Amino acid sequence: MKGIILAGGTGSRLQPATLAVCKQLFPVSDKPMIYYPLSVLMLAGIRDILIISTPVDLPIFQRLLGDGSQLGLHVGYARQSEPRGLADAFLVGADHIGDEPVALILGDNIFHGHSFVDLLAANVTNVDGCVLFSYPVNDPERYGVGEVDERGRLISIEEKPERPRSNRAITGLYFYDNDVIEIARRLRPSPRGELEITDVNRAYLERGKVRLVNLGRGFVWLDAGTPEALLQAGQYVRTIEERQGVRIACIEEIALRKGFISVDECHQLGAEIAESSYGRYVMAIAKEVGSVGDVASGPAWYR
Ligand code: G1P
Repeated sequence: MKGIILAGGTGSRLQPATLAVCKQLFPVSDKPMIYYPLSVLMLAGIRDILIISTPVDLPIFQRLLGDGSQLGLHVGYARQSEPRGLADAFLVGADHIGDEPVALILGDNIFHGHSFVDLLAANVTNVDGCVLFSYPVNDPERYGVGEVDERGRLISIEEKPERPRSNRAITGLYFYDNDVIEIARRLRPSPRGELEITDVNRAYLERGKVRLVNLGRGFVWLDAGTPEALLQAGQYVRTIEERQGVRIACIEEIALRKGFISVDECHQLGAEIAESSYGRYVMAIAKEVGSVGDVASGPAWYR
């Protein structure tokens, strides 16, 4: 499966902070926001990833992540010269997707929870149609909203409805089969002139090909698109990291534990930023895994 991270947009709700710096590069606690969605794709085992952003911001993402080889990934870049909606990702990224299924994740979405890796593994293979992830929220009118029948089957999806039919937000992580390119090509722009991801999902719903996965109340899904949400996300990450002594979305650790890079390569990545506690954490993880000699043993690090 191929991966796409959408990191474009104007970040208008975060202005003036976003007037000169792209939102997805803002720090959430101690690392750039894009590390969080990148880590989700890595945890799902996806190694061929396209980052879509504006022509101005793309070189900065390139400076941050390069070609991805240091993490055992292949990271490519594509420009979206104007914000044309989330579903435009499948047109901009058509060559990258080729004839494979694809995971799309929004660059400001943060996922964290028990057994998330298992949940990803259970849904990432044999995608027939699409897989959507829903999450209960207090303010569904800010999101795509799914309505389910008494048997838990999805019956409608609406984008930012004034009167939401449920509290289930559709999160910014989506798995699609290869039909998504054709569906996106046939989409008409919404009244606000954009190719809406919700219209793509509705096309799958009409075909009876949506699998809805509920992320329960014990799970954490945050977006970092407003000043309040950004601050809350940083506080959440810091609270868990300090309490447990682990790091959320440490891409070097994930690359090591998934077997994408060696212990030495991981240690070197930490050593390059050893002045920071993040860098020292990466080095410590490399030492720990190196002494155990088996990336899969030791504590169930991701659960
Ligand atoms: C987008 C989607 C919406 C989804 C949300 C998740 O909204 O259009 O359906 O629920 O992402 O973050 P945006 O945040 O771009 O307004």
